[in-house]
Amino acid sequence: MTNTERTFIAIKPDGVQRGLVTKILNRFEQRGYKLVAIKMLNASQELLDQHYAEHVGKPFYPKMSAFMRSGPIVATVWEGKDAVQQGRKLLGATNPADSLPGTIRGDFGIDLGRNVCHGSDSVESANREIKLWFKAEELVTYEQFQAKWIYE
Ligand code: RTP
Ligand code: MG
Repeated sequence: MTNTERTFIAIKPDGVQRGLVTKILNRFEQRGYKLVAIKMLNASQELLDQHYAEHVGKPFYPKMSAFMRSGPIVATVWEGKDAVQQGRKLLGATNPADSLPGTIRGDFGIDLGRNVCHGSDSVESANREIKLWFKAEELVTYEQFQAKWIYE
């Protein structure tokens, strides 16, 4: 099997507090992606500064990172064909106001600073983020038995 691209998807504190965890996980499961890692944690400022390195120093960053520390996050890794780009499509546009209905943000969000979920924006970002949020042994190897019914 060659469908081993991985993406890092996180349910932000608003998604957890609003009881959207299983609904968001289900979007990826029902699409056919394979869950290979999952945990719940309170992110430290240090972890967030590394995760959002491209945004540190921007005017919105202090408020955004404080929000990301305001409650637990559910961190996940999903594997499958084109997982990064398709994951971004499942999430929808960054600003929920621009997200189409049917996407996670388009169905569950309104404001930019409460957009419910994070998704890696490239394969390089995904690999970097997965290493940052998970230890190697937390990534689980197993066979997805339904794969032959998902991929031709
Ligand atoms: P994310 O990294 O969280 O998946 O979101 P994204 O790639 O779609 O968007 P990105 O540009 O990476 O922005 C990261 C998060 O910062 C908040 N944001 N606020 N001008 C602002 O106030 C502003 N711009 C971005 C959003 O919550 C966005 O998800
Ligand atoms: Mg981003």
